[in-house]
Amino acid sequence: MKLAVNVDHFATIREARHSHEPEPILAALLAEQAGADGIVCHLRGDRRHIKERDLKVLREVVKTKLNLEMAATEEMKKIAFSIKPDIVSLVPEREEELTTEGGLDVLSNEKHLTPFIWDIKKAGIKVSIFVDPDLKQIEVCHKVDVTLIELNTGKYADLKPGKERQEALAEIKKAAERSHELGLEIHAGHGLDYKNVLPVAAIPEIKELSIGFSIVARSAMVGIEKAVKEMIALIEKY
Ligand code: PXP
Repeated sequence: MKLAVNVDHFATIREARHSHEPEPILAALLAEQAGADGIVCHLRGDRRHIKERDLKVLREVVKTKLNLEMAATEEMKKIAFSIKPDIVSLVPEREEELTTEGGLDVLSNEKHLTPFIWDIKKAGIKVSIFVDPDLKQIEVCHKVDVTLIELNTGKYADLKPGKERQEALAEIKKAAERSHELGLEIHAGHGLDYKNVLPVAAIPEIKELSIGFSIVARSAMVGIEKAVKEMIALIEKY
């Protein structure tokens, strides 16, 4: 199991004081040094954490894989063309939300997404869609011609251990199995932390986890290298 570390919330702390620190670029480098397989950041329309400058410097220094999460807008497409991240992850975005609230509704946006995805792929950038573990949505992901999806683990992560959480986990498993049958590469993420990550890491079709908030929070206590290493030690068992 691979780990991609999302560095957005190092920038959130920086922006809380409109300061120069902590530096998300340094966080990315230290995360790579600690064994992360990729770095993720989300350039939001409102630029609340990651800025274009961060993205440019990350592109220069990240040696593993840079994954740019973005909304499927013309503004973001232009930025992706100029930065050329290794992966563009398409996510839904609402200005009022605290964090991404759900997967992209590929079913309702198929007409818009098909040429959008094609343009990005033509520029030599791999495209991923952040999608709920919903079989109908997954079938459309295959139809709009992406080869990679990220399953949204947010619903599972928000639930306390118990029957409902087991059901949410079963949905993720089913979605992973179907995606695998369709030949899709499967990543997963959102809300995963040191306590809830194991059952998701144990799903064999899922090859990479994208984790941000819990690693940033743990970094505040033990430093980023230790926080990343602890997460890798947990998920590596699978
Ligand atoms: N994957 C996607 C598509 C996301 O939008 C986010 C949050 O930015 C994450 C994964 C990471 O979620 P968390 O910060 O809760 O680990």
